[in-house]
Amino acid sequence: MNYAIILAGGKGQRMESDRPKQFMLLQGRPVIVYSIDCFLRFQKDIQLIIVHPSEFEQEIRLMLNKYFPSNNFKFIEGGDTRFQSVKQGLKCVEKEGIVFIHDAARPFIDSHLLNRCLEQALHHGNAIPAIRVKDSLRKTHRKGSEAVDRNLFLVIQTPQTFQYNILQKSFEQTESTSFTDDASVIEKAGYTIHIVEGLEKNIKITTPFDWLLAACIVHEN
Ligand code: CTP
Ligand code: MG
Repeated sequence: MNYAIILAGGKGQRMESDRPKQFMLLQGRPVIVYSIDCFLRFQKDIQLIIVHPSEFEQEIRLMLNKYFPSNNFKFIEGGDTRFQSVKQGLKCVEKEGIVFIHDAARPFIDSHLLNRCLEQALHHGNAIPAIRVKDSLRKTHRKGSEAVDRNLFLVIQTPQTFQYNILQKSFEQTESTSFTDDASVIEKAGYTIHIVEGLEKNIKITTPFDWLLAACIVHEN
């Protein structure tokens, strides 16, 4: 059995909107519906685990039942941090298998990306999508800043994909502020990260400007 944990437990503070961004309507469909649709097209029997804010449980059940009436989702309340929300999601994984962990705020994944992640996670234990840096970068320090080689850096995306036993062991660690994604958690537990090619359009909607960008992407898709 393969699983996709869809992280929708955040408040979207940087978006400065009334509703969490993952439930806002983009071209008439809630943001979270786009990536769920892609996972179900990719593998119709994948077990989807929806991690949500406690006060949205009823609303999200109704919403997903409307878009995917025949699907058997699992729902679980998120935690105060992304790490805690992933831990919550992992409680719903029952057997060995591959686990995709995906930000609900990234609507523009595709089946090629999911296939790369699945294949490479089966082979290497984990698959972390990333893209190259386009901008010039500078490292700041107390006295100013210095140019750094952008070829030494990658921008990390989701779905980050793992064999379940690796996640289970890694998420037993004490939470650290350095855990900004799942790769950082399993790396701290001693595993080597395996990068796969990400997708430029796979943006994480974070700020009002990203919302404008998302509206353009959905229009071109
Ligand atoms: N997330 C979560 N539980 C949390 C925090 C985040 O499930 N406690 C999810 C978000 O819903 C989002 C994804 O993790 O889909 C990526 O996080 P981010 O973009 O930071 O979303 P928010 O934390 O909601 O936004 P902000 O940091 O601006 O408040
Ligand atoms: Mg956040």
